[in-house]
Formats: sequence, C-alpha cells, structure tokens
Amino acid sequence: MQKELKKLPKHIAFIIDGNGRWAKSRGLTRSLGHKAGFSRLEKIIKECFYGYGIPIVSIYAFSTENWNRPEAEVNYLMDLFRKYLNKSFLKKYPEVRFNHMGDPNGLPDDIAKKAKNLMDATADRDKFTLNIGINYSGQDELVIAVNNILEEGITHVDRQVIADHLFTHGQPPVDLMIRTSGEQRLSNFMLWQVAYAEFYFPKCHWPAFNSRQLFKALEEYQNRDRRFGAIKEEK
Ligand code: IPE
Ligand code: IPE
Ligand code: MG
Repeated sequence: MQKELKKLPKHIAFIIDGNGRWAKSRGLTRSLGHKAGFSRLEKIIKECFYGYGIPIVSIYAFSTENWNRPEAEVNYLMDLFRKYLNKSFLKKYPEVRFNHMGDPNGLPDDIAKKAKNLMDATADRDKFTLNIGINYSGQDELVIAVNNILEEGITHVDRQVIADHLFTHGQPPVDLMIRTSGEQRLSNFMLWQVAYAEFYFPKCHWPAFNSRQLFKALEEYQNRDRRFGAIKEEK
C-alpha cells in the first residue's frame, strides 16, 4: 500500500454515492449495487486505517432522507447493516472504535442495539475511530445537540459547546470530504464538521472506488493550499 504521502488528513469522510447507477450500468439490481458498495467500503476503511494510518474515518451510509426509497431497497440496506454491525467487527477492525452517528430512535430496534453494543465494546480503543452515519442528518444532529444543551441547563454556547454535543464530540473536524459519482453536494452530511474541509468529487461510482482512486484523492490533497482565511507571509 502507498504510504509515502507527506500530508495526510487526520479525518477523512466519504459520501458513498452511486451504488445504484453502478449496478444499473451492469444490468444488475440496485441491491447488488449496495452489496458491491459494502464490500468496497470494508476495503477502503481498512486501507485508510491500516494502510495510511488515518486516525478517523467517517462514512455516510444511510441518510434520514433515504427512508423515502422503496421498502425493498431500505430493507436490503438494513440487512447489510445488521450483518456489518456484528461482533465480527471487533476482530475485523482491530484498534478501531466504532461510533454511530444518527438518531438511534428512528432505526429498527435490533440495529440500534447492535450499534450501541459495538460502541460500548470498542469504547476503550483509541487508535482509530470509525464514524458511520445510519439514519443520519446533519441538520438533525445540530437540533439534537441544541436540545441536549438546553436540557443540561447551559445558557450560553460557543463553538466548543456545540462541537462537544455532536456525534463526533472530542474529534477533530473533517480535513478531506470525498463524494463519489460526480454529484457535488453534501446531502445533509456533517454540516458542522466540514466547515473547512477540502472537497474531492471523483466521477467513479462508489463500488468502483478502489485503492488507486483513494491514492489519487490523497495525492490531490497534497496540493491543496489550506489557508484557513489567513495569507502566507512573503519571504
Ligand atoms: C449510495 O448509492 C448508497 C446509499 C445512499 C445507501 P445510491 O443508492 O445513492 O446510488 P445512486 O445515487 O442511486 O446511483
Ligand atoms: C447521500 O446519497 C446519502 C448517502 C450516501 C447515504 P443520496 O444518493 O441519498 O443523496 P442525493 O439524493 O443524491 O442527494
Ligand atoms: Mg445516490
């Protein structure tokens, strides 16, 4: 695996788009697209952690808006989550802390429970963190944070207080956001955390996003001049 890149993101996020189109272009069902997308997901996550040593990976797997899809497709995706959020995660992803982003209340009970169990079982792991958005909405995340802040009796907030009440509390912001399939929008993902992220929009569909594509994204990141509003001193 390629490791010679100098500047790596501390936090990389993926909007894994294009499973359906990938399948359609091959004459397959959308479900098979999601299946292929999931096996790709496992490989890319492992490569980010164990290949490049990127400490935090965030994945948009299912949005609150995705409930509007046909029932059969939603059920298929839920079954994929059931399989994924299993005890086997503990062995498959050594040293990875699992963190569910999203409202557990809107999920089938067994999936919410599996996510919670994995979070508890990996709570002591501190080398890598995997955030997965399932029933996730960036706007809802902020609403939930504000309500929790009010319930705690806090009467004045600053950026830190808000950050501390998000699903990603304690984590640095997203450095690099990748959305496959050529769509150039956030679709309600991590609105707060991407405030100063670099964006990368490869044309390929998610199931075709491979090691080479990941390397290209990280290579492109090397050339980004992150100024954070400041200017460089002339020498
Ligand atoms: C992304 O692929 C996966 C999920 C939203 C769960 P899509 O299913 O959105 O694929 P397209 O955009 O229809 O091709
Ligand atoms: C965003 O993809 C959500 C996930 C990747 C889970 P969508 O395919 O649902 O987004 P839109 O509908 O193109 O904005
Ligand atoms: Mg899509």
